[in-house]
Amino acid sequence: YTASNTLSLHDALPICFTKETNQLVHNFNASISFDQKFFKQDIDGSIAHVTMLAKQHIITDDEKDVIVNELKNIKQQIIDGKLEIDQSCEDIHSFVEATLIERTGDVGKKLHTGRSRNDQVALDMKLYTRDEVIETDHLLTHLLETILKIMEANTDTYMPGFTHLQKAQPLTLAHHFGAYFEMFKRDRSRLADIYDRMNYCPLGSGALAGTTYPLDRAYTAELLHFYGPTLNSMDSVSDRDYLIEFLSALSTIMMHLSRFSEEIIVWNTNEYQFIELDDAYSTGSSIMPQKKNPDIAELVRGKTGRVYGALVSLLTTMKGLPLAYNKDMQEDKELTFDAIDTVKGCIQLFDGMIDTMRINKDKMAKSAMNGFTNATDAADYLVKHGVPFRDAHGIIGQLVLYCIDKGIALDDMSLEEFQAISPVFKEDIYDAISLKTCVEMRNTIGAPGIDAMKQVIALNEAYLKEHPAADFVK
Ligand code: ARG
Repeated sequence: YTASNTLSLHDALPICFTKETNQLVHNFNASISFDQKFFKQDIDGSIAHVTMLAKQHIITDDEKDVIVNELKNIKQQIIDGKLEIDQSCEDIHSFVEATLIERTGDVGKKLHTGRSRNDQVALDMKLYTRDEVIETDHLLTHLLETILKIMEANTDTYMPGFTHLQKAQPLTLAHHFGAYFEMFKRDRSRLADIYDRMNYCPLGSGALAGTTYPLDRAYTAELLHFYGPTLNSMDSVSDRDYLIEFLSALSTIMMHLSRFSEEIIVWNTNEYQFIELDDAYSTGSSIMPQKKNPDIAELVRGKTGRVYGALVSLLTTMKGLPLAYNKDMQEDKELTFDAIDTVKGCIQLFDGMIDTMRINKDKMAKSAMNGFTNATDAADYLVKHGVPFRDAHGIIGQLVLYCIDKGIALDDMSLEEFQAISPVFKEDIYDAISLKTCVEMRNTIGAPGIDAMKQVIALNEAYLKEHPAADFVK
């Protein structure tokens, strides 16, 4: 290796050598195949770094201009497909630096002054992740808008509510979807928390112990829109907490999507027919012509395991690492990228799937009527007429047995049949146990009654106005 002004990509930096390192070692060690994903962030970080170096008179303004211009060039050329990322380089950092040096000679060699790949990669990954936290919030916000739209249109779409997958009490589709609205709302607030905690800049921490140059870390942090610099250089180069937190939040999002998918799959079955997925979001069978499969929902449910895997994998990678940087940490990238791309895809597809599905209101209402979902209300009727609850519970139990025997619903019984079991029943029992009454009487906040539901919808509309996508970016 000799320094010269006419360096080729391969001899520009020893880290780009492929001849002296055993080829298998090089391949095993190299990260370029995946860390090229953050070439933009790598270049943005470098631009901020040299801008700070010039401000601190560590390099001249002219040198900074040459480097910044060429870095911008390199970035644009990669974006435009005019510059191919050389896969024989060890990583994206060495590729960008080597290309810069190849084009600007000795000036380019000043880029890495006061910096290590350890704080560089910590920065790149943080910048990349920060962008993805924002992206994820955009997608979740859109999903919330879709859910709210469905809620607004279905405040009187009656359906059975289930416990143990057994029909329990009647509610509405608005109420059922409202449960998921709350879940994804919490997911968004987790993203906001993560953004807030992670938004400190590790650049300037050097390999582990800072540098001897008079860097202005607060300035670099400001240029890159961080709240400020991180406060311990060893922690800065070896902190992957924010990735673990993000993977945890992504896992929770997947858990919610997976539960929702499971319900969509069940509701879409021939037995339920509560909903019908749009053809554009269903797939056929290669052998059975009658089939329309809910593959999207099943894939979302299936991919949940993969995202959990990323979380557990990174937790395990990190658990035994001494301070500060260790190469193990390079393992954070592929699985995090995969988890992020997976979750983003799932949110988008799920959103489109529920937005286009047809809702069979009649089937839902009929199902709610046929499962004694009004038995609690029948008992409450007796209580309101002076029967102690425990006795009322027993009387309705008898009624249900009677109905099961005759294959009818409570609503189908004649008044004489009611009164044969308890004389307390009067003509108004029918109204008291109608589906509409059962739902409408439940009007405490959070319950499915139309008034309560409308209140909650209004609150959630206000929430979406107050918290537009990525509002945590200050
Ligand atoms: N590819 C490395 C990673 O992802 C970059 C940091 C390399 N640092 C080092 N000391 N080898 O972690």
